[in-house]
Amino acid sequence: MSAVKEIWCNLRDLPDNVLASVRRRGKATSDRARSQAIFANLFLHIHPTRTHLNTLRPSYTLGLGLASTFLFIILAATGIALMVYYKPSVTEAYNSIKDIHYVVPSGRFVRNIHRWSAHLMVLTVIGHMARVFYTSAYKKPREWNWVVGIGLLFCTFALSFTGYLLPWDQLAYWAMTIGANLTMASRELTDALGITSVFDPGGFFRSILIGSATLGEDALLRFYFLHCVLLPLLITVLIAVHFWRIRKDGGLSRLEEPEAGSPPSMHRGQPVFPRDPHKTYGLMALVRGTSPNVNRGPEHTVSSWPHLLYAELAVCAVCMLIVVALGIWVDAPLKEIANPAIPENPAKAPWYFLGLQELVSYSAFAGGMMIPAIVLLGLALIPYLDRENTSVGIWFDGPKGRSVVLASVVFSVCSIAVVLGCTVRFGWLRAWFPSIPQLVVTVVNPGTLYVVMFALWSLWTVKRYNSTRAGALALFTCFLVGFALLTYFATYHRGPNWNFYWWPSMWPTH
Ligand code: HEM
Repeated sequence: MSAVKEIWCNLRDLPDNVLASVRRRGKATSDRARSQAIFANLFLHIHPTRTHLNTLRPSYTLGLGLASTFLFIILAATGIALMVYYKPSVTEAYNSIKDIHYVVPSGRFVRNIHRWSAHLMVLTVIGHMARVFYTSAYKKPREWNWVVGIGLLFCTFALSFTGYLLPWDQLAYWAMTIGANLTMASRELTDALGITSVFDPGGFFRSILIGSATLGEDALLRFYFLHCVLLPLLITVLIAVHFWRIRKDGGLSRLEEPEAGSPPSMHRGQPVFPRDPHKTYGLMALVRGTSPNVNRGPEHTVSSWPHLLYAELAVCAVCMLIVVALGIWVDAPLKEIANPAIPENPAKAPWYFLGLQELVSYSAFAGGMMIPAIVLLGLALIPYLDRENTSVGIWFDGPKGRSVVLASVVFSVCSIAVVLGCTVRFGWLRAWFPSIPQLVVTVVNPGTLYVVMFALWSLWTVKRYNSTRAGALALFTCFLVGFALLTYFATYHRGPNWNFYWWPSMWPTH
């Protein structure tokens, strides 16, 4: 063949040859080839080569873990693009954001996507935690992965929060002032005890976070470093540990019957899978040897290529669709440039901290430190306090699971409505007894009252059903409802000076 003809043939076969050199194998037509397509690929080999059918049920995971991961990737990609134009200095930050928004081609779109992905990620992570809890997926052997998840929850809040200051507009400045003041929550206690001059952890934490007495250059640089370097790195490492643990814990949770070989049965409308009697596959789930199981995958599994990948693609496509639609139609807010002399009234924290801000309005120490610490510790300890042998992998399982959840929703809604109504109508201790010691208000306020009421309700549930799972269901549900209701209340019913209004349109105009 002449050299010219050979070049022509090579050009004709170019696409096939390029694909073959990337794949290093032909088309995956057998189970073995499909397995190899997964584990021989740098990006895909975090997946198992075979996936259990239960993992692919959309009604089980709701795709929320993957959605959180994908939103984090979108945040990283758009964040890097924004870093090209953003300038982390008090004199330039606001104008650089304005440039991104109004001048840089596609800058507004990228900024919008970054902002809405951040809010969505907070939502999906909370939703994912709730799915893991309500399907008992935190139980043995996944206890430690639940704790890693709590670390991820904390870092997700911190990532979103530290990004809030960067535009350096009025909204950011005053929301961050509230956030920075939260670090000083312990001053309420040390002041009440009269020991602030010798022991002041609040002042110490505040100076570490913002570097000076007020928000300024030091604070902006610290938040920039936390937001763009430290927290993304930490989340990446934690996600790697999280995924590694999922594989080591035997894949996603599912309900398996102890007897092998029986056909799938149903439990409360959800499938129960029999154990696989033929564990002839190794770590890579490749079927080997000369036994009758050659070329047969483990029971109730399908090859991840392409089934799992299609499912993942669908979740990512839905996320992409939502953030792109939001990015096109809803602009990320940008107010006037930050002015430390003109406070926003009301100055409100980002929405996911508004519940906390409501609690802080009763007592800085209780709302800003004590209750968040109790909640975080309580969440992390759930798998170690509830070690009851309930069915893993079934929604709301546990003695009278669904009824306990429903009763807990009613209980928490009623108790929060009564206490909030009471504080709005009659005020709290300080209004009744103006000279009451602050220490009493710190210990007895609506926030601590909620904690005590929810704890008592949970203990009563444990006793009534003789089940720690029932108690955990009650407590977790009260926590979720409390978070949602307080966030709603602080968003729509708190106006200037943190006074109660039926609706934001009733706020006085200045
Ligand atoms: C940035 C935050 C997070 C990311 C990116 C993430 C990602 C994932 C993914 C992709 C899965 C597998 C698919 C799924 O279950 O949807 C998963 C499973 C799991 N996650 Fe997360 N997660 C995060 C936060 C959390 C939180 C807050 C918790 C709990 C406190 C948690 C606990 C777990 C557990 C225990 C599993 C195993 C579930 C099972 O076996 O059914 N994760 N996570």
